[in-house]
Amino acid sequence: MKNAKGLLVYDTCYGSTAESAYWIKALIGHEHYLEVKGLHQILTLEPYDYVIIGSYTRWEKPSKDVYNFIEQHYAELSKKQTAFYVHCGDCDETTVMTMPPWKKPHLSSGRNYFIHMLTKFPDLKPVTLGGFGGRQVTPRLNRGDALLIWLLERTMPQDKCGWYGRDVWESMIPKRVEAFANDIRAHMLDLPPVHDPEKCHVFWSTEQPALLSERGKGKTPERIFTVCKNTPRMFYSRSRFRSSLDETVALINQWAREAGLELIEEQKTSYNVHFQATKQGSKENLIIHIVPATFPEDPGNVHIAFRCNGKAGIRKSAEDDIVRAEALLWADGRKVD
Ligand SMILES: Cc1cc2nc3c(=O)[nH]c(=O)nc-3n(C[C@H](O)[C@H](O)[C@H](O)COP(=O)(O)O)c2cc1C
Repeated sequence: MKNAKGLLVYDTCYGSTAESAYWIKALIGHEHYLEVKGLHQILTLEPYDYVIIGSYTRWEKPSKDVYNFIEQHYAELSKKQTAFYVHCGDCDETTVMTMPPWKKPHLSSGRNYFIHMLTKFPDLKPVTLGGFGGRQVTPRLNRGDALLIWLLERTMPQDKCGWYGRDVWESMIPKRVEAFANDIRAHMLDLPPVHDPEKCHVFWSTEQPALLSERGKGKTPERIFTVCKNTPRMFYSRSRFRSSLDETVALINQWAREAGLELIEEQKTSYNVHFQATKQGSKENLIIHIVPATFPEDPGNVHIAFRCNGKAGIRKSAEDDIVRAEALLWADGRKVD
């Protein structure tokens, strides 16, 4: 809708979500009406045509105050065009987490943090979602947060903790912010994509070093898309290849049929699918978690992760099945990297 009145409401603990709020406003363009406000500055949503809500992440969800805000304004939000984004430590939406207190393996990271919220508030029909990554200044966390991060460092798989050895750690993917703003421009304002998005990186830039004692250390660890891990507790393989989500899902179904696997679709979103595959008649009941996903920053490619949490030695047939699936997906030179 041309000349639509927009509101961007954010909830932040340490400032990242506020920085990106103004970054998004600049990408939308200052000539277009978009108010930027903190969550506690809002009385009513009635004057606005569309509403964007940004949040920090805790316990794999947007903040509690964002949940309360949606509950309070649910009727109004359900009638309007909406979009949601989170700042988060991890953005890899092929992630399946099996960690206490959630016994059940579930999709985690990035846009997956909205799955619970959108299930709880089914009348929200966002035009787009963003899982941007974020910035963590570890020595400045409050005591409760610092304790939780300390505990997570000891319980999480090490590859998830990019913050090791850094005071300032960043997982931000600027292209995700740009894609989010372009979705809003297209769907809410009938505008073409921004032609010079790099100009707005100033809203996120910082001279703060990753480590005071090592000024040259990077704040952003390199993203590695192709991984194969074979440990006593887990077989994990992640890759990317040229395809679409629909084509990939068709190939996964073909592989499951040919391998005699029962395939169950656990969760489906617009950008990923979580499948569980089990061998029919298998005594060990070995489950393979499969998640193909598309990323806004990597158009034309599908990223896929296979995980089997069975113990080494008893999971050999699952490992062989995963190798066969990858051969099918990567065939005809489709593999990237
Ligand atoms: C105690 C604590 C818990 C967190 N939990 C998660 C989480 O479950 N998943 C995630 O991806 N990021 C998590 N984060 C990362 C933050 O959400 C991220 O750093 C974000 O940028 C913070 O936004 P803010 O600067 O606007 O407060 C956590 C950070 C802290 C300090």
